[in-house]
Amino acid sequence: MTGSLRPLIAGNWKMNGSRATTRDLLAGLRAFLRESGPAGCDIVVCAPAPYLPLAADRLEGVSEIELGGQDCHTAVSGAHTGDVSAAMLLDVGCAYVIVGHSERRADHGEDSETVKAKGETAIASGLTAIVCIGETLEDRDAGRAVDVVGSQLDSSLPDGTDAANTVIAYEPVWAIGTGRTPNEAEIGEIHASIRARLLDRTEDGSGVRILYGGSVKPENAAAILSVPDVNGALVGGASLDATAFWSICQSCP
Ligand code: 13P
Repeated sequence: MTGSLRPLIAGNWKMNGSRATTRDLLAGLRAFLRESGPAGCDIVVCAPAPYLPLAADRLEGVSEIELGGQDCHTAVSGAHTGDVSAAMLLDVGCAYVIVGHSERRADHGEDSETVKAKGETAIASGLTAIVCIGETLEDRDAGRAVDVVGSQLDSSLPDGTDAANTVIAYEPVWAIGTGRTPNEAEIGEIHASIRARLLDRTEDGSGVRILYGGSVKPENAAAILSVPDVNGALVGGASLDATAFWSICQSCP
């Protein structure tokens, strides 16, 4: 059974913010932690790469909030101008890294083979990979969401995946930043299909957390997080507001 997995709420700040907002946002989360005590979930914030050292500094001694990168290269190091390696993320204090976000697949032409390689490098470097998959609206309208997500998972899943080193994030592309979400039955159908594939493909498939992402807000978080096999959320816009993000963290069943 997977009902007992500890939820994970990950904030993806995307290409937003500044030194000032990084400080303010983390001060806000620290204040909520002080006032209300730990939320019943693991928490990660994935800040833009230039702000990770500042974020690590601001989270010093705060064991309840981990840090994540938003991408890493497939290579360990070398001539890759503008890129960031998994080892660098680890070095500045990250425990997680997002790979294969649909915005990177679209903006940078990343295919699932590349995403798989990134995940494997991340894992080998000691990070937990948050591997993103999700269908387009065209796929959903054509009734092929389960198939598309399944084949993306098959080709993006790092070799050596286990419950400690990999998290799957199901993010329907059409739900990202739009205010629209699949209904609970639709989310449940996809998550159950991902779980079945994980059980088939990995030793540890029952322990791998499956996050939902796409327009998660304080208003819909409790309902989404109570869907079977939803083990947390990957939050974009609402993670830029400490009150909203904390409220989502507190919505875990
Ligand atoms: P929104 O929560 O803004 O829809 O973004 C979701 C997302 O892409 C998180 O990675």
